Amino acid sequence: MPLILETIVTTLSPEGALHLVPFGLIAEGDDYVLAPFRPSPTILNLDADPYFCASSPRDVRVIAGAVTGRREWPTVACDRIRGRRLADSFGHAEFAVTSVEADATRPRYRGRLVHAAAHAPFIGYNRAQAAVLEAAILSTRLHMLAPDKVMAEMRYLAIAISKTAGPREREAWDWIEDKVAAHLGTEDRILADTDAARDGEASGVTC
Ligand SMILES: Cc1cc2nc3c(=O)[nH]c(=O)nc-3n(C[C@H](O)[C@H](O)[C@H](O)COP(=O)(O)O)c2cc1C
Repeated sequence: MPLILETIVTTLSPEGALHLVPFGLIAEGDDYVLAPFRPSPTILNLDADPYFCASSPRDVRVIAGAVTGRREWPTVACDRIRGRRLADSFGHAEFAVTSVEADATRPRYRGRLVHAAAHAPFIGYNRAQAAVLEAAILSTRLHMLAPDKVMAEMRYLAIAISKTAGPREREAWDWIEDKVAAHLGTEDRILADTDAARDGEASGVTC
């Protein structure tokens, strides 16, 4: 399997409307392939104007927000292409599409790097951010997965949230939990149980 980088991809419609969504960029030699499932506004935008930007958000709420109907995040103009990048990012990369592999389900747009820049120091990995990323991807596949599998994965990911999240990661997690709970038709929240179990452990109470 190739290396895949999870990013926030931004494209512009011919009218200039911004479209901001998380996408995995698939490494292929020196290029990165963007592969959106149909139907997709990203596909329409790329077919009209073959440029895209990928940003690495500092705030993981951007990723959770994009898959829970919260897509209004500050952006600024790109440096070399017609487009916009996430304002609050570790860095961003601007790509020109050099070829398209047509496909009825998932076309592949091969992006050649035009420009890249760093914007903020990256100090360290955070398990809660990784857990939000995984949960966000999970939340886009609910229609394909059995409820037991979804619950098992969410329970595991909640451990990292309970142990290592800051306020932004908790809020991002809550947005995903609400989406998953609505899909499964439950009022219960996994993180509340995980926190309670941890508090019990800390005070010597066995759960
Ligand atoms: C981290 C992450 C990576 C994703 N990668 C892809 C991807 O590579 N291809 C895809 O079609 N959807 C991917 N998704 C789901 C899309 O973000 C989501 O379905 C989005 O609405 C699709 O964009 P569109 O509105 O342009 O169709 C990903 C979601 C997350 C959270």
